[in-house]
Amino acid sequence: MNTLQKQDPQIYNLIKAEEKRQKEVLEMIPSENFASSAVIEAVGSVLMNKYSEGYPGARYYQGNQVADQVEMLAIERAKKLFGVAHVNVQPYSGSPANAVIYMATLKPGDKIMGLSLSYGGHLTHGFAGTFSGTIFKGIQYEFGKKGILDYDELEKLAVKEKPQIIVASTTAYPRTIDFAKFGKIADKVGAYLLADISHITGLILAGVHPNPVPYAHIIMTTTHKTLRGPRGAMIMVTNKGVKKDPELPKKIDRWIIPGMQGGPHDNTTAAIAVALKEATTASFKKTQVQTVKNAKALAKELLHFNFDLVTGGTDNHLLLIDLRNKKVNGRIAAFALETAGIIGNKNSVPNDTMPPLYASGFRLGTPAITTRGMKEKEMKKIASWMNRVVDQVEGMLLPADDKEKRKILMKEYREKIKINKEIRKIAKEVKELCAKYPVPGIK
Ligand SMILES: Cc1ncc(COP(=O)(O)O)c(C=O)c1O
Repeated sequence: MNTLQKQDPQIYNLIKAEEKRQKEVLEMIPSENFASSAVIEAVGSVLMNKYSEGYPGARYYQGNQVADQVEMLAIERAKKLFGVAHVNVQPYSGSPANAVIYMATLKPGDKIMGLSLSYGGHLTHGFAGTFSGTIFKGIQYEFGKKGILDYDELEKLAVKEKPQIIVASTTAYPRTIDFAKFGKIADKVGAYLLADISHITGLILAGVHPNPVPYAHIIMTTTHKTLRGPRGAMIMVTNKGVKKDPELPKKIDRWIIPGMQGGPHDNTTAAIAVALKEATTASFKKTQVQTVKNAKALAKELLHFNFDLVTGGTDNHLLLIDLRNKKVNGRIAAFALETAGIIGNKNSVPNDTMPPLYASGFRLGTPAITTRGMKEKEMKKIASWMNRVVDQVEGMLLPADDKEKRKILMKEYREKIKINKEIRKIAKEVKELCAKYPVPGIK
């Protein structure tokens, strides 16, 4: 019998339940993916027992001969793969990594220019109410008149506000980011350009999204999204970054430890190294190419069913649907789709009048289902299922400002969705499809 099963059946059973859930549904949250068995093995290794505060060759504790080699390997692989001057693989995750970057480059009160949350930015890009918008001043940009990023408008804003750092990054933007244009704007106003490529790292490595390395000073990526590694992050300083400030690599390292963190998670570092090795393979590239093809195929089918896609389509791995024409709230649609086995997330859309928890949009992406091996044919099926589900919940809207009424309606809608026969039927069909596509890392 498995040791965990014997020692802690409660946790064992919960893990098994999650394995079953992941196998039986379509995981379409664009920031999620399935790590390989090799990555999972490294995360679950004895490296997690070690304390390695410091850096290879300069640790605060003894006994780090192996940890040093693991970290050096991860750094070397990342430097080679991305072609950057300096890499730090120790950030615990993307949010602390961005905090480290700001601390290394800004003074309190300096300006961070980032994409507004409701237009697809991340909380750590200067949003009010987070550390990034409290210690620093967030200058939030939005889309231009054409409903996409307008680089002339961005330039005007940068010239007016003179931010110390510009963040080129999105979490819900279905179009490519023009890093060359961002680079020019940053250079014009003397700002650092941070490319937070967390969502699109895999696409960049496969050459299906423009690469920020020639234009950005600093690059941050989480390692668990399209890269398919463990939960973690890396901060990279480019040659351009070193040219702007030769001390930048040292400042980043210093703000990781002692500035922000204690001991690195050596097991995660090892798993990052494994993911970086996997990212050099032909099959990794093929999957990333297919991820984009699948997103485009899904967009085409959804448009056919009169779904309103923000920006009209996609160039990358994700889609953002504005559900207002379908007369259903995003949170309700997300619940109905989840009941049918299609897992995405409610998301604010441009000019959303609903609060974020009851946003009017639905975000979904193709990285995880592509990792399972699904292709255009399956995207067609998924779009059709989504259309059938959304049809069932048409009219389920929520008021923007009446909390009590919202609560009552939410309960009523959820009960209706749970017993909806058509949605249950779709869930069965989804499960049947999923059974044909094994999940890497799950037996
Ligand atoms: C662009 C971007 N930056 C930063 C983060 C934060 O990463 P984490 O959730 O690992 O803190 C995310 C996570 O969704 C992200 O999408």
